Amino acid sequence: MVPMTPSSPIYPALARLAACISLVAGMACDRPGDGAGKPQPGKPAAIAAAVTAPHDSLIPEGPMGVSIRRGRAILAATRDSLPEHVGNRLRCTSCHFDNGTRANVMPWIGVYGQFPQYRSRAGGIQIVEDRINDCFERSMNGKALPHDSPALRDIIAYLSFLSLGIPAGSRVAGQGLPPIKPLPGDTVRGAALFASTCVRCHGASGEGGAAPPLWGPGSYNIGAGMARVRTAAAFVRVAMPYDTPGILSDQDAFDVATYINTRPRPDFPGKENDWPKGDPPPDVAYPTRAAAGKRP
Ligand code: HEC
Ligand code: HEC
Repeated sequence: MVPMTPSSPIYPALARLAACISLVAGMACDRPGDGAGKPQPGKPAAIAAAVTAPHDSLIPEGPMGVSIRRGRAILAATRDSLPEHVGNRLRCTSCHFDNGTRANVMPWIGVYGQFPQYRSRAGGIQIVEDRINDCFERSMNGKALPHDSPALRDIIAYLSFLSLGIPAGSRVAGQGLPPIKPLPGDTVRGAALFASTCVRCHGASGEGGAAPPLWGPGSYNIGAGMARVRTAAAFVRVAMPYDTPGILSDQDAFDVATYINTRPRPDFPGKENDWPKGDPPPDVAYPTRAAAGKRP
């Protein structure tokens, strides 16, 4: 086997190969460019492992290293670090686990080199600053950071460190969330599952406790990616319950995600201007102007 260190150049094929060698059976290793496994009806989605995050020993000495470490600290203690920019009780790593290094839970490894990128929700090209600010405004129900702010520079320094050795433009295994086949969700079953499986950490009214809130004023707003049922179901399916992830079926995940996302949460003014080209995904919880204009 080719010895790979985090600092060696990792080409996409090699990265895929490494992921295939070191990983669980059932992965879609034969599908080039497809990071996550394909879901099979009735079977849990196959899980792909990401390229490992570079080790801390590779953080350089001096100002660059200070910035990388500060960026990581901001992402894990977002509210304490940037109280003016966070409007809820979440932190970036509430959803991007293990400082953004956990495979299949929307890791940040390799993301830096994928920007600039066309995004349909914005209807234009985004740079990585815009993508980070989307999560500040929506997932964190807060305010965007000015593009020249020291905090944004530190966050980007950390993201670029996580992409060390990964060629720009390549997609790495384990990025995003494993795909899950869309199913209709049942809020009655979802409420029962929530009570039996989620309440002990997230609180009886989703208000948070040991774990962050799932709805109400302390949660992500309606414009957040997590407010879409398919995204929430895919996340819950792979990452929750936190201490025993993987025990829920796809149907369980859709039921509980539908329950959570039909509870009240903060609004996102201007949400009707999302997907300005009129191409919103089917699980967006609000009407958008461009899509309405397209209908006969
Ligand atoms: C409530 C959950 C949640 C929180 C909190 C959150 N995010 Fe996200 N983030 C998401 C979702 C959902 C996506 C879209 C993932 C996908 O498309 O696969 C995402 C995507 C991203 C991406 C792009 C990832 C990619 O693979 O292209 C970046 C960068 C990012 N978030 C940064 C942040 C930062 C910085 C913060 C804190 C300011 C944050 N996020 C907080 C849910 C969250
Ligand atoms: C053992 C405790 C525990 C259980 C049980 C649990 N979670 Fe979580 N959950 C967490 C923790 C902790 C986090 C945040 C992780 C972090 O900050 O590092 C989290 C994060 C989340 C998030 C993203 C952040 C947010 O608050 O929006 C969602 C959504 C979520 N959990 C849904 C669920 C659902 C649905 C269930 C039940 C099926 C569940 N969780 C069960 C501990 C738990």
